[in-house]
Amino acid sequence: MLYNKITNNILTAIKSIVGDNAVITDHAGLEKYSHDETEDLHYYPEVVAKPKSPEEVSALMRLCNEYLIPVTPRGAGTGLSGGALPVMGGLVLAMERFNKVLAIDEQNLQAIVEPGVITEEFMDQVAAKGLLYPVDPASKGSCFIGGNVSHGSGGPRVVKYGTIREYILNLEVVLPSGEIIWTGANTLKYASGYNLTQLMIGSEGTLGIITKIVVKLIPRPTVDALLLASFSSNEAACAAVSAIFRAGIVPSALEFMERRGVEWVKEHDGIAFDLKDGIEAFLLIEVDGNNQDVIFSDCEKINQVLEDYGCKEVLFADTSAQKEELWRMRRTMALSVKSNSIYKEEDTVVPRASLPQLIKGIKQTGLKYGFESVCYGHAGDGNLHVNIIKDQMSDEDWNSKLKDGIKEIFELTVSLGGTISGEHGIGLVQKDFMPIKYTDTHFELWRGIKQVFDKNGILNPGKIF
Ligand code: LAC
Ligand code: ZN
Repeated sequence: MLYNKITNNILTAIKSIVGDNAVITDHAGLEKYSHDETEDLHYYPEVVAKPKSPEEVSALMRLCNEYLIPVTPRGAGTGLSGGALPVMGGLVLAMERFNKVLAIDEQNLQAIVEPGVITEEFMDQVAAKGLLYPVDPASKGSCFIGGNVSHGSGGPRVVKYGTIREYILNLEVVLPSGEIIWTGANTLKYASGYNLTQLMIGSEGTLGIITKIVVKLIPRPTVDALLLASFSSNEAACAAVSAIFRAGIVPSALEFMERRGVEWVKEHDGIAFDLKDGIEAFLLIEVDGNNQDVIFSDCEKINQVLEDYGCKEVLFADTSAQKEELWRMRRTMALSVKSNSIYKEEDTVVPRASLPQLIKGIKQTGLKYGFESVCYGHAGDGNLHVNIIKDQMSDEDWNSKLKDGIKEIFELTVSLGGTISGEHGIGLVQKDFMPIKYTDTHFELWRGIKQVFDKNGILNPGKIF
């Protein structure tokens, strides 16, 4: 695909659409938009525009489509797969001014929000009305809900409540042609034609620009319990995971953390936590509901399973401060790893009973290729984030050999019935691995869909496939 540069005339047209103050062209100003949270990758756009209405987005899309300017939509830039990186230059469409919760409909348990609302702010607003929006990625305090939709995001509570796919009823989308559509209906179900809402979710900004989101809400559970289980090996911790479900419990979170991750969080965030010798892995387990007795009985059952699977110690969080601290430990792990070493993060997901084989294989691959890894993630979903640490590895090995190691990890993931990326998306950094799982037929179908939406290929080029 041949794209054009943004000329002075096109820049003038962009400014006339969004206003001079909503356009950035200087190098220092563009820096923030040249990266997200993916490794240390930087790609500068030529121009950043910050539209504030669907009509402005529509006018920008018409302009860029006419002049073949690549457009990369951007939320808060917290992504871990490079989805928001403008790899072909062009225009970054920063959605940060779409920052309003437009309505919370308590009659129907729905809300309408703009894509640039910070996820946690939205969660807090619905919580104040006794409602729950449970899709809480680790970055909930800074990510945008629009980015979450675009990546099909998850987070710790997916295991009980489902991913964002379960909570999006309808989307207002600006197509590359500039046309503005609603993808579905504000109903809990519909059976009319192909589901464009679900197609948009996880499409990583390659099909259209989301400008309004209709979200399903649910009643808020009133009680919960949180416990931290310590194990002497990764595999023992991972083996306990599927056993908890087999005992009839669906926890509201079931997270896995390796010792090294906890050590780094302690250093990085100063979390006071007594890390005992001989402990190699942890499960952070939460149950929630509306009946304290049921919660107690669930905890007893979980305790029994943990004991059966060789758990060394179980810590019950007694106070809300203790709960918060344990959650902080888990949620800041990505940032702690990032601050500690050059690393690559790969997102793997397998059927949950295969987790012990996955973690074992990851460590064996590390030994073979000479890298260390820190793994953590949403064990209840079979979703492990694999952070490969550069540490002592030579630049040469890091740049050449590592890719084969990562390929082996994904081959194992796929052989266990899993796939590439549970929740971070494919973006730029995982796309080379897609052929491990998907065939020419998949790529042909995807390209066909892309072509129908975006015949000139201007939207987020270079991503997914
Ligand atoms: C987490 C992010 C990295 O689970 O997905 O912490
Ligand atoms: Zn995660």
